[in-house]
Amino acid sequence: MRETDTPVKVEVIEERIRSAPEYIAKFKVALPGAPINIDTIVQAVATFERALEPTTAPFDRWVEGDEQAISDSAKRGFALFAGKATCFACHSGWRFTDDKFHDIGTTTTDQGRGREVKQEALNFAFKTPTLRSVALRAPYMHNASIKSLDDVVRHYEKGGINRPSRSPLMLPIQLNDQERLDLVAFMNTLTGAPEGRNGLR
Ligand code: HEC
Repeated sequence: MRETDTPVKVEVIEERIRSAPEYIAKFKVALPGAPINIDTIVQAVATFERALEPTTAPFDRWVEGDEQAISDSAKRGFALFAGKATCFACHSGWRFTDDKFHDIGTTTTDQGRGREVKQEALNFAFKTPTLRSVALRAPYMHNASIKSLDDVVRHYEKGGINRPSRSPLMLPIQLNDQERLDLVAFMNTLTGAPEGRNGLR
């Protein structure tokens, strides 16, 4: 939380939800007869978050041995992601994140992690997001400054704004049109079928 932000009181949250007709209607359907208070609000948000659990993505089926699960372009894209394009340096592991903070040179004026820990090296640094279901999340970055996955790839090619805090892992990369398409095709394989999300929509 920003130092300048005042924490929102529980009563304010309850009051806002209780005075919104669309929420009142939805609470009636989801929890018939229940009061709208912080307990039922928390219950509703938690249920929603569980519904976001991603299902098996085409990429996972490929890893499990189904060669047909993703295109040749996506397979080349994964090789680039883990190799020459060096994305795996930060988007590592099964969730495609190292859970660490980096400045990747976005146009942001938000000091990010540097504001919290008062270290210059962490200025403009944000936590590496997972790339699971990334195709559903445009626009990209904490400040929604990048519109498409193609533009994200171009951002990494240019390396963004070069400032003292920019991560040394932001290595210069050069890609041709096909390689850019391949990387995007790979990222598009990380989204599972929406109808499978715990049966909730
Ligand atoms: C130095 C570490 C690092 C490297 C290398 C890196 N990323 Fe990132 N990536 C991040 C961080 C940190 C963010 C979040 C930045 C923000 O929100 O301002 C991010 C954000 C993203 C996003 C936006 C996700 C969203 O939900 O908004 C995509 C897509 C992405 N990276 C793909 C890639 C690709 C493709 C590569 C390789 C070409 C790559 N990244 C290399 C650390 C890295």
